[in-house]
Amino acid sequence: MFFFSKKNILTDLSFLGADMHNHLLPNLDDGLQTENETIQFIEKFKTLGYKKIICTPHILSGVHSNNTTTILPALNRIKTLVKEKNINVEIEAAAEYMIDHELEALIDKNQPLLTFGNNYILIEMSYMAASPYLEQVIFNLKMKGLQPVLAHPERYSYYHSNFNKIIDIKDRGCLLQLNLLSLTEYYGNDVKKIAKKLIEEDLIDFIGTDIHHNNHLNTATQFAKDSKMYTLLKSKSFLNETLV
Ligand SMILES: [Fe+2]
Repeated sequence: MFFFSKKNILTDLSFLGADMHNHLLPNLDDGLQTENETIQFIEKFKTLGYKKIICTPHILSGVHSNNTTTILPALNRIKTLVKEKNINVEIEAAAEYMIDHELEALIDKNQPLLTFGNNYILIEMSYMAASPYLEQVIFNLKMKGLQPVLAHPERYSYYHSNFNKIIDIKDRGCLLQLNLLSLTEYYGNDVKKIAKKLIEEDLIDFIGTDIHHNNHLNTATQFAKDSKMYTLLKSKSFLNETLV
């Protein structure tokens, strides 16, 4: 059962304007599974202060076989429901592309890719090991006029002892997106430490919620309880605000 009340909302994320990384579209990946849940979460995002929600289902070869034909109908259905229910928030969709041979093939064949904002494309890697294709994919996307954005670099533990590698990715022209919950204890202390350093050193371009389920949402609503982290985040500016 999903419990939520306005008095539990302690966090105002309106300074971000838009969320550009979440798994709210139903029944497409390991995120939300029903339209009802999606609508409930969209209402909560609005209460958190978001004006726009860009949904980014996983595209992962053999696991989450999404593409425009699965994502866009789901988006349209949710947009219709949001309109019917008079929820005043804008909903869009892109995707979170795992860097794998399938993404390489899509780029090689000039297939249309799901982007958001100013030709931004969200890409991610396995948590187990860095992709050997990362640099090539960044280069190839840029050659196609797309702007890669690497999801949650702070969560790749293989970079925790090699911070310079994250700087190298940025130097190659890839933007970086930090997960909001990485600034809490949610993914552990090591992730929090790197997340804080990335923010302090102005290396982060976007903040995403990466919300998949209730635990994520509840942690996000409590974010401002840690006033140090909340103040740090609010002292910086991010490209999120350019998406609204
Ligand atoms: Fe994600």
